[in-house]
Amino acid sequence: MATLIQNRSASSGLVGSRASATKGRGVSVRPVQRTASDRTRGGNVVSPRRKDFPIFQERPELVYLDSAATSLKPKCVIDAVADYYGKYSANVHRGIYRLSEEATAAYEGARKTIQQFIGAKSEKEIIFTRGATEAINLVAQGWGSQYLKSGDEIILTVLEHHSNIVPWQMVAKKKNCVIKYLDVDDRGVLKTDQLSKLLTRRTKIIALTHVSNGIGVINPLKPIIQKAHAIGAKVLVDAAQSTPHSPLDVQYLDCDFLAFSGHKMCGPTGIGVLYAKEKILQEMEPFLGGGDMILEVTKTNSTWNEIPWKFEAGTPPIAEAIGLGAALVYLREIGMSTIRTHEKKLLAHALELLQKIPGVTLYGPCDPEIQAGVLSFGIDGVHPHDIASIFDEDNIAIRAGHHCNMLLMERFGIPATARASFYLYNTETDVEKLAQAVLKVKKIFS
Ligand code: ALA
Repeated sequence: MATLIQNRSASSGLVGSRASATKGRGVSVRPVQRTASDRTRGGNVVSPRRKDFPIFQERPELVYLDSAATSLKPKCVIDAVADYYGKYSANVHRGIYRLSEEATAAYEGARKTIQQFIGAKSEKEIIFTRGATEAINLVAQGWGSQYLKSGDEIILTVLEHHSNIVPWQMVAKKKNCVIKYLDVDDRGVLKTDQLSKLLTRRTKIIALTHVSNGIGVINPLKPIIQKAHAIGAKVLVDAAQSTPHSPLDVQYLDCDFLAFSGHKMCGPTGIGVLYAKEKILQEMEPFLGGGDMILEVTKTNSTWNEIPWKFEAGTPPIAEAIGLGAALVYLREIGMSTIRTHEKKLLAHALELLQKIPGVTLYGPCDPEIQAGVLSFGIDGVHPHDIASIFDEDNIAIRAGHHCNMLLMERFGIPATARASFYLYNTETDVEKLAQAVLKVKKIFS
């Protein structure tokens, strides 16, 4: 099994990453105090906690480099889900009995944990969904149907995952709106200088990703949000690839909506979050109708429950929400700055090794300051699917394909890439195995 690594760069990493972030190139985060768990004796950053992930006991040979698709799950999350089913399984908000009250307290406790994790003002601003995709659909269908009018404009970027394109295309067709796309340069960096040209008085919303799932580039959200707000447009942030990997503060960003998934951040599948400012949620009509989201139902009319429950129709994903709460407690204890620093080091090491190999093309900025732990690459003359299959022979899991990023693939003039993505359990040894596997593929195809 790969050995655990220690960050060797003493105190430089955490403070350095935040300092660069505030200069506008890196992650848009409000500078935060280090937590006790961000520090270890001597200022070194803590090592990744492979031992917390039972899958490595099952499969000690696994080199898991596909966390952008879904993360592995620590035991505390698996236990939290099993505890709900095994010890206090009951529906929430309904029962006048202790078991149901216990389940409700755990479910609502998870909401509180999420509120604190992303720096929201109130837990009323946290809506549980089935995932980031559903959260974006809730905004496009719910808010979009209510507020968009014929001729209104929606701005997306060519970096978007299909889940932040298709819902907007659907509502744009229904409401006769125009979609405009902000382009990237050849490194995949947003051409933010073109934003002023795209923004008009008809622009109603910008929906953009924080971190590209395809190439890892980190977008400078803060100035984009400021520009949008200056003309009265709203901003939705797809944070599916950033919330799991770096500190995030919605009040600092001042975004109107923010969506993310649980399963990419050590939580269960089938759970996601929509954050939205309280005033917007108060004024929005519900998205789905059913039990729990109503106050009163008559033969001709219904009235709505308070937020956030107005947006949570039917029995919610209770175990999944509780599991996500446990995941966030786990990540918070490690420290999100620590995780970002660790991934930066892994990416820097991967870039250093892969850049030396002839015939390898790296997509994205290739700069850990503006790139999360996602590295897309190609090998001359080899289809990415073949790369992934050969890697699999050595128990190295990567993703190959268009990554639900067909607009980005079109921009780069390629059908697909191979993609390695890192998380807190990866080690420098994993990165070295990645480089060795690339050499093996080259040898097979030479
Ligand atoms: N959106 C996930 C990915 O990028 C599934 O792989």
